[in-house]
Amino acid sequence: MDTGLNYNYKIVRQFTIATVVWGVIGMLMGVVIAAQLAWPSLNFDTPWLTYGRLRPLHTNAVIFAFGICGLFATSYYVVQRTCQVRLFSDKLSAFTFWGWQAVLVGATISLPMGFTRGKEYAELEWPIAILITVVWVAYAVVFFGTILKRKVKHIYVANWFFGGYILAVAVLHIVNGMAIPVSAMKSYSVYSGVQDAMIQWWYGHNAVGFILTAGYLGMVYYFIPKQAERPVYSYRLSIVHFWALIFTYMWAGPHHLHYTALPDWTQSIGMVFSLILLAPSWGGMINGIMTLSGAWHKLRSDPILKFLIVSLSFYGMATFEGPMMSIKTINSLSHYTDWGIAHVHAGALGWVGFITMGSIYYLVPRLAGKTAMYSTRLIDLHFWVATIGIVLYIASMWIAGVMQGLMWRAVNPDGTLTYTFVEGVKATYPYYVIRFGGGLLYLSGMLVMAYNTWMTMRDTVSVDARIPAINPIHA
Ligand code: HEM
Ligand code: HEM
Repeated sequence: MDTGLNYNYKIVRQFTIATVVWGVIGMLMGVVIAAQLAWPSLNFDTPWLTYGRLRPLHTNAVIFAFGICGLFATSYYVVQRTCQVRLFSDKLSAFTFWGWQAVLVGATISLPMGFTRGKEYAELEWPIAILITVVWVAYAVVFFGTILKRKVKHIYVANWFFGGYILAVAVLHIVNGMAIPVSAMKSYSVYSGVQDAMIQWWYGHNAVGFILTAGYLGMVYYFIPKQAERPVYSYRLSIVHFWALIFTYMWAGPHHLHYTALPDWTQSIGMVFSLILLAPSWGGMINGIMTLSGAWHKLRSDPILKFLIVSLSFYGMATFEGPMMSIKTINSLSHYTDWGIAHVHAGALGWVGFITMGSIYYLVPRLAGKTAMYSTRLIDLHFWVATIGIVLYIASMWIAGVMQGLMWRAVNPDGTLTYTFVEGVKATYPYYVIRFGGGLLYLSGMLVMAYNTWMTMRDTVSVDARIPAINPIHA
């Protein structure tokens, strides 16, 4: 049913299903490239199956497909429920869905064909980059338009985080994307040399800060209180958290460029702001976890809450590790090694993956007009399989990373290197196999989720919930 008296659940449902489908695809690509690192012949000497082309396909599929579809679904749901109005425009929101899927299909075809701008997380060539801009502007209009026509005076904190992420991504994408096209699928950045690197990592780090962090904090502030049936531990802290986080993130990018041609003082600024970032990050994590005060017992029986709360512990872990890695002396050991990959996936699998999965499990039955997911035991199974997968993934990469760093810097008394590079590669081999096993487990969990989602949604009829006539605070 699509009347103005109802919330628009159709768009939320579409993005929710897309999140699960792209999650399977993106993680499958992760498992494929993890296998290729252990057994390189798996590229079958075929150009479009090579590691160099599939790796960006993995990162694009998990961040822009799985990650951002999850953010579309949850932000569209949360903004309607907390503002108690239907989305600003059904047509425009439908455009964001199909437009975004077109971007993702474009990425899936063009990256294996070898078209790339060569900028990490901004690989997509100019025609696709322009489509991203158009869809994103439509997203901003739908989201902020809904806020403007809200029936509730207060703008709930989750919307601040979603709004911050939408605005920041627009600015980042446009500034870093400035390029001169030279053919249908080739362009060159307008920046050059060290400026290009600086702009790229200002973009790259804020992609972490605003997509992989701020957007998901929007989920934290809505779905954890809802699932735990408790108010946010400290609403005041949540506002401080928001402003402190968005102010600090913007300056931390140069920690990706330590010991490069970047002026030394900019590297130091990046390091200092990264260290400061620990405070708002942990403030937010504690605020989220403490929301469970008085409801801890629910963790025993509610696997959705387990996903949501464990995601926050991984968030805490990644945001402790990140500031440590930004200290120049520590970065001289960790940079270029698999330690970075461990850090990325503690954040990606533990934080981004788990908070998304928990929120999607919350949404699916509501979007299908059911009281619960098809199987709670399968949610529990997913949780445990995925948790073991993460532990295997990140522990193996930590060990491999520190080992690589130490082997590369070891010198004999006469000043020559103790190990050749290939000895480091050989020593890493077992850890790559363990990481592959961990990734396979994580992917299996995602397949269990896809099955459970299908079984819950398959006979969905009409489920657009009615907007309440009066405005209860808890939407
Ligand atoms: C306080 C928060 C954080 C700080 C200060 C931080 C800091 C860092 C540092 C120093 C690096 C290594 C740079 C290098 O040596 O090349 C890094 C890499 C990375 N971090 Fe974090 N991190 C934080 C949180 C997170 C979170 C929550 C995620 C979520 C997934 C994340 C995702 C990444 C990614 C994807 C990279 C790899 C970038 C690349 O080289 O491609 N970080 N981070
Ligand atoms: C089944 C799960 C996954 C597996 C097996 C996997 C595997 C991998 C592998 C093998 C790499 C390349 C590492 C290298 O270059 O040495 C990689 C990179 C990356 N993955 Fe995943 N991944 C998985 C899930 C995810 C998810 C869910 C996300 C994000 C939400 C993610 C984000 C990234 C990022 C940002 C990089 C680039 C890191 C960098 O350049 O420093 N991955 N992944």
